[in-house]
Amino acid sequence: MKLAVFGHPVSHSLSPEIHRSFAAQFGLDLQYDAIDAAPESFPDALGAFAKAGATGCNITLPLKTLAWEAAGRSSDEADRARAANTLVFESFSNWFADNTDGRGLVRDLKRLLPGGPADRRILLLGAGGAAAGVLGPLLQAGATAVHIANRTPERARSLAEHHADLGTVRWSGLAEALSPDEAPAAPYDLVIQSTSAGHAGKGPQLTPDLFAPGALCYDLNYGAASSALARWCADHEVMHADGLGMLVEQAGLSFALWTGHTPDCRTVLKALRSKVG
Ligand code: ATR
Repeated sequence: MKLAVFGHPVSHSLSPEIHRSFAAQFGLDLQYDAIDAAPESFPDALGAFAKAGATGCNITLPLKTLAWEAAGRSSDEADRARAANTLVFESFSNWFADNTDGRGLVRDLKRLLPGGPADRRILLLGAGGAAAGVLGPLLQAGATAVHIANRTPERARSLAEHHADLGTVRWSGLAEALSPDEAPAAPYDLVIQSTSAGHAGKGPQLTPDLFAPGALCYDLNYGAASSALARWCADHEVMHADGLGMLVEQAGLSFALWTGHTPDCRTVLKALRSKVG
């Protein structure tokens, strides 16, 4: 079976290692490569890959919206996010697009919190592509209410409006949501960090009173990009998780779409954790 992850850049991707580990669980013969494609050349590269007999692919930044646009059929999750992280080539010209990021997050949250996001008050920091990928599945998994806070409030508003049919979604600017006096719905049971600020070594300016007792702070980032927030949480005795578990879970869902096999994600996460830290 031939698969790959497309991205730009892509050399950092852990997906090849994750999918090879999944394949080993079932004795499957799998070729899974990392292919670097700039947005201009991505549609052609994708077409050539499908024609070469591939089963499908994963797609990472900055190609997820292009991948969604390239497919003839798509899941509700992909349509809501206007982005796909998984393509299934049903034939060389008939492609199905899915977005397993949000369902992957929900599965990881169920590992970390009893019931996962169900009946939780959630603060979602950021309103970019990563936030768009997870909001629908969080609401569908029974989150009581989600407040989206973004540096650019207009983007938070647009994301909230786009999901209003799924549940209670409020929005504000970042500064307003993080200020203890103004925080609209604090304290929260779950704070999800989806901004890319951590890539610049910055954690959001959180205050401990945003968190309800026993609350979880979940960073969609992992590795160095999540270390500033992890430090803040340790200093303030707030439970913290990075996005490595979500990465493995979203991969597991993609793997099942392509192969029909449901892999054991926890074993793979454990092995990866010992490497990534
Ligand atoms: P991604 O697909 O990783 O979500 P994106 O769509 O570019 O990437 O979105 C990045 C998110 O991080 C946005 O919510 C962005 O806020 P803006 O909409 O105001 O740009 C947020 N972000 C990036 N750098 C930030 C910073 N230094 N402080 C706060 N938010 C930041």
